Amino acid sequence: MSGRIPQAFIDELIARADIVEIIGSRVALKKAGREYKACCPFHNEKTPSFWVSPDKQFYHCFGCGAHGTALGFLMQYDQLPFPEAVEDLAGRYGLSVPHEGGSSVRAPVDDMAPLYDLLGRVAEFYAASLKASTRARHYAAGRGLTDETMAQFQIGYAPDAWDELMRHFGGSSEQRRQLAATGLIIERSSGSEGYYDRFRDRLMFPIRDTRGRVIAFGGRVIDQGEPKYLNSPETALFQKGRELYGLYETRRARQALKRLLVVEGYMDAVRLHQAGITYAVATLGTATTPEHLRRAFRLVSEIVFCFDGDRAGRGAAWRALQNVLSQAREGREIRFLFLPEGEDPDSLVGVEGSRAFEARLQEALPLSEYLIAHLRTEADLSHADGKAHFVALARPLIEKIAPGVYRDLLLERIAQALGTSIERLQQWLKVEPTPERAAASSPSAVSGVDRGGRGSLLTQAISLLLHHPGAAAAVTERQRQALLGISHAGIAVLRELLEEQRAQPARSMAQTLERWRDRPEYRRLNELAASEPLVSEPSAAGRELVQAVERLLDVQLRGGRLEVLIEKARREGLSDSEKQELQALTSSQSRGGAR
Ligand code: UTP
Ligand code: MN
Repeated sequence: MSGRIPQAFIDELIARADIVEIIGSRVALKKAGREYKACCPFHNEKTPSFWVSPDKQFYHCFGCGAHGTALGFLMQYDQLPFPEAVEDLAGRYGLSVPHEGGSSVRAPVDDMAPLYDLLGRVAEFYAASLKASTRARHYAAGRGLTDETMAQFQIGYAPDAWDELMRHFGGSSEQRRQLAATGLIIERSSGSEGYYDRFRDRLMFPIRDTRGRVIAFGGRVIDQGEPKYLNSPETALFQKGRELYGLYETRRARQALKRLLVVEGYMDAVRLHQAGITYAVATLGTATTPEHLRRAFRLVSEIVFCFDGDRAGRGAAWRALQNVLSQAREGREIRFLFLPEGEDPDSLVGVEGSRAFEARLQEALPLSEYLIAHLRTEADLSHADGKAHFVALARPLIEKIAPGVYRDLLLERIAQALGTSIERLQQWLKVEPTPERAAASSPSAVSGVDRGGRGSLLTQAISLLLHHPGAAAAVTERQRQALLGISHAGIAVLRELLEEQRAQPARSMAQTLERWRDRPEYRRLNELAASEPLVSEPSAAGRELVQAVERLLDVQLRGGRLEVLIEKARREGLSDSEKQELQALTSSQSRGGAR
């Protein structure tokens, strides 16, 4: 695990980020006064109730209750865990995420720079070696690759020798360490000294990240041999389950990208691009992962998986389906294309051309249809036992899909296939029906923050500070000192918020929220953030805050006096004036707002 991300970095990131831009790249936002609105991406609606505030750097759906900061949006929309949402956001602003202490697999980016550089130079070396090798050029041409395609994908050749990279790039021990760190050379097992090249006599496919940096290679034997493809091992720069071969080239094609075609092989992706299908990417000898899909759905709303028609292809397709269910939801289209037995995209597009191939894409099976068709091959729906078996097979799959419109529609289709109602099916599957409104996160006993509702003075003060961080400046020195004297747990939160804003004023509500993300009070603060501010005019907020704090202090001080009087009454009795005072205090206490 990598170390903790410093709070100061997140603070800076939120200050730089623009939530309108981030949400706007995924949801069509319309300007409405100072804010922006859209149909909510988290529930199905026809009239917009999803609002984005540039001032607060916060979004809120009045229909389903979804709300949060830019990071919260990335977490919710792309289903990213917090550190990845930070990575994603930082990446947009060209920032690298620092990690504090601890052992980190992913070294700081500065340490990586020489590795990227080395891999880039090795790719150039391989490309030059291809030009120099008649045998390799002949093979590539025989596979139908044009010079232009080879240049575009920077396809190369690893010469047939054990020490090419050592000779060209391994002059110093530091250089050899770097070569080994990228997996390009392998240390000889005990007994003999030194290293040898991983890739020898292979056609080389550089794998590039979305910024175009070479992070790994795939190498195919020339003609026959085992293994047919050899890939770089996983390294600090390269994780197979994340990368899609050809994604950089796809993005570079500068097309209006609507869908991605996911194929299995390097050659498939390259040949499809060459044929003009420039939205093809390949998984790297692994099953499709949810992470692949998350990345893909950041770019497009439609993904077509393409599999060979043979048994291996069908097996791979079913594995892919299981892995992508967690990413299925309304607004995303996932389909499966099965090619005729014995064909792969490379061979097929070569034979029939891109138009006929694209026509096949139109026929690809939607995920739901494929799921049902596959289960039908395992369960005979003509009798009750078969239906029960079908339901048993479907349950673990359905459970992977998030509740929502997509799952409901799939359930409807399955119910139809089984000849039953959706309610019955839900009973059989024991899945919870999708709630009408995503419940506003249920308040638990949040330590510290008073749960007296909007009316409580403390809640008012905290809410004002959240929505208008600048209001903190209006609080007087006397008030600050007085607050220090109160030990009430909720007041401690108010005090801390005030001090925080004085020391380092937040520029938006989002910034304050992110500072509190790891604290137990975060949940309650987040709820307050989504509730409407008491004061919408920033200029009035300071005045409101001062008044709220004043009343709060008053109530607290009187509460203290009350306790003293009650105690005295119990012990020794009160004088007449004390009785009057007690009476006044208790009656104002029951009228007053705070508890
Ligand atoms: P295929 O065996 O379908 O290869 O493997 P292909 O793409 O059709 O290759 P050509 O046309 O014979 O050149 C598909 C993918 O599976 C991975 C590679 O990523 C390959 O592109 N693979 C395959 C391996 O990693 N190792 C292997 O030995 C074979
Ligand atoms: Mn092939």
